[in-house]
Amino acid sequence: MKIVTKITEVREEIKKWKKEGFSVGFVPTMGYLHEGHKSLMTAARANNDKVVVSIFVNPMQFGPTEDLANYPRDLERDSLLCEDAGVDMIFHPEAEEMYDIGFCSYVDMNGLTKELCGKSRPVHFRGVCTVVNKLFHIVQPDRAYFGEKDAQQLAVIKRMVLDLNMDLEIIGCPIVREADGLAKSSRNTYLTKEEREQAVILSKSVALAKELFTDGERKAAVIIEKMTQLIETMPLAKIDYIQVVDTRTIEPLDMIETEALVALAVQFGKARLIDNITLR
Ligand code: PAJ
Repeated sequence: MKIVTKITEVREEIKKWKKEGFSVGFVPTMGYLHEGHKSLMTAARANNDKVVVSIFVNPMQFGPTEDLANYPRDLERDSLLCEDAGVDMIFHPEAEEMYDIGFCSYVDMNGLTKELCGKSRPVHFRGVCTVVNKLFHIVQPDRAYFGEKDAQQLAVIKRMVLDLNMDLEIIGCPIVREADGLAKSSRNTYLTKEEREQAVILSKSVALAKELFTDGERKAAVIIEKMTQLIETMPLAKIDYIQVVDTRTIEPLDMIETEALVALAVQFGKARLIDNITLR
């Protein structure tokens, strides 16, 4: 497995692979990898000749008061996980390599980013779209793998690829969870023991939404209210949002007809955690 830091090195390798007729699967990440990331690599490994993982804590997608400086990093451990998953190349650039002096071009979206995380993180998706676009140009993958854990991000990337006629396939992979149900996240390391115990309420509330839906509940307001009540039983939880939206447009729904995304973000101390479920 190669670890490269320069864009030219990635391009050279990719050019060689393409000449040989190899397909390329790509998993963009910000590192501090866990089983959730690994499941994307496994999916990429199964369907492509070569697998590239990027590890880049992208400054552009963090707001000024967010956790950019504290975001956990451990390249050595990440490399072992990638090696184990059969990855062929890690691209691990410095911020200066990705954003040259004078950088001023962006990819932004008018739709899909007004609700959920877009509401509480106004610059976030512009940063995500811009960096993912750049990474796609650098790696030129045939397929790129994203987790359903970040459901809005997955919808945004799919829309960007469609709108800008990008020649690759976006593949969504299911949420990987801890034994008690908490969705795996690099940010779980911020949790104190008490916060960690209470954080299980996110997955419990998502399970409650599913149960209500299965029992015939279709009113978004009722589902949101019951989830809120459940989460508020945990004294350390501060709800950022709980919303029921259209899975493709990410527009709020009053009633669920065929399908809906129920998504939430809850702050526990320093950690802002997200979870979601698609009801259909
Ligand atoms: P990061 O948070 O490192 O996540 C990288 C990928 O792993 C994303 O597609 C995310 O949805 C997926 N992932 C994280 N936790 C998961 C879990 N528990 N189960 C399944 N998949 C999971 O998302 C980003 O980085 C960045 O925004 C990025 C796309 C790399 C752009 O900078």
